Amino acid sequence: MRVLGIETSCDETGVALYDTEQGLLADALYSQIAVHAEYGGVVPELASRDHIRKTLPLVDQVITEAGLTKRDIDAVAYTSGPGLLGALIVGATMARSIATGLGVPSLGVHHMEGHLMAPLLSDDPPDYPFVALLVSGGHTQLIRANAFGDYQLLGESLDDAAGEAFDKTAKLLGLPYPGGPQVAMLAEKGDPHRFSFPRPMVKHPGLDFSFSGLKTHVGTCIRDLSIEASMTDQDKADVARCFEEAVVDTLVIKCKRALKQEGVKTLVMAGGVSANKRLRERLQSSLSQLGAKVLYPAPKLCTDNGAMIAYAGALRLMAGERDGDAPEVRARWPITELCPP
Ligand code: KG4
Ligand code: ZN
Repeated sequence: MRVLGIETSCDETGVALYDTEQGLLADALYSQIAVHAEYGGVVPELASRDHIRKTLPLVDQVITEAGLTKRDIDAVAYTSGPGLLGALIVGATMARSIATGLGVPSLGVHHMEGHLMAPLLSDDPPDYPFVALLVSGGHTQLIRANAFGDYQLLGESLDDAAGEAFDKTAKLLGLPYPGGPQVAMLAEKGDPHRFSFPRPMVKHPGLDFSFSGLKTHVGTCIRDLSIEASMTDQDKADVARCFEEAVVDTLVIKCKRALKQEGVKTLVMAGGVSANKRLRERLQSSLSQLGAKVLYPAPKLCTDNGAMIAYAGALRLMAGERDGDAPEVRARWPITELCPP
């Protein structure tokens, strides 16, 4: 089955073609960074309008790149939540219209299930059960995946998501949107021992996270550094590095705890923050000491993309799932509400 996947939940238009026999045939991504940069964050209305402009040209692009025609598409999958409502409506409307025009089925896909499935697009997918760390701009969750569609929430952030903490720290440091990659880049030149930021909730039992206090500490540190003179580039790099270390330490400690609690030896990491190099290195070395392994997607499949939606959609479509008559998109949608197909 050849599935066209369309992702429009936030500020990236992602389109891909996935073939259940041949794998990923083509994918294309348009990032709206330039549209939102001058506002310092995503402006939902502008996001919706840009998805309207970009989705169809990207659909044509992936079909051409795959050497196919529209008639070769067997089904259309699209992100139906969670995400920005207007942006989701654009993707859902386009996807359902294409499917109706071609006389093929369509299916709305859960964005976080898409992220969760992205590491499974590899040649060596993990066996169930595994523990997943989902770290994006809107979510920080530890999940036990028993089977495709059977997810149990082990812990989550009680306030800011890890990606949100990166983005807010970037803003405090005067770095442009989107902040995560900028903070990570700056951190490479920083001294990890200069400031001591808290590792939130690590002394609490359980697997929940909290990142809003860390942001307050970063803010106070920046204010103190700026009292007598403006911060030097080295000051900024040191703050970025110490912040990154605090987030990475916290995530690593909780991941190890989750694997131990669940008696599982495989951790799958996905979502935008899983692109973070330091987090990948630290998880790899810490888990190998425990005889466990970590799997993460290729960098371009960590952040939002159409391939993960095409793939997760294909797994459900192959099992016979189809859209109902009425389009349904959801800004909020806990992943634990999903069921196996
Ligand atoms: O999964 P994603 O593309 O979109 C959501 O579903 O939210 O994740 C975006 C988030 C942003 O907060 C961004 O700053 C963060 O992922 N991010 C990173 C890195 N690359 C993206 N955070 C830390 N280090 C990175 N290299
Ligand atoms: Zn995402």
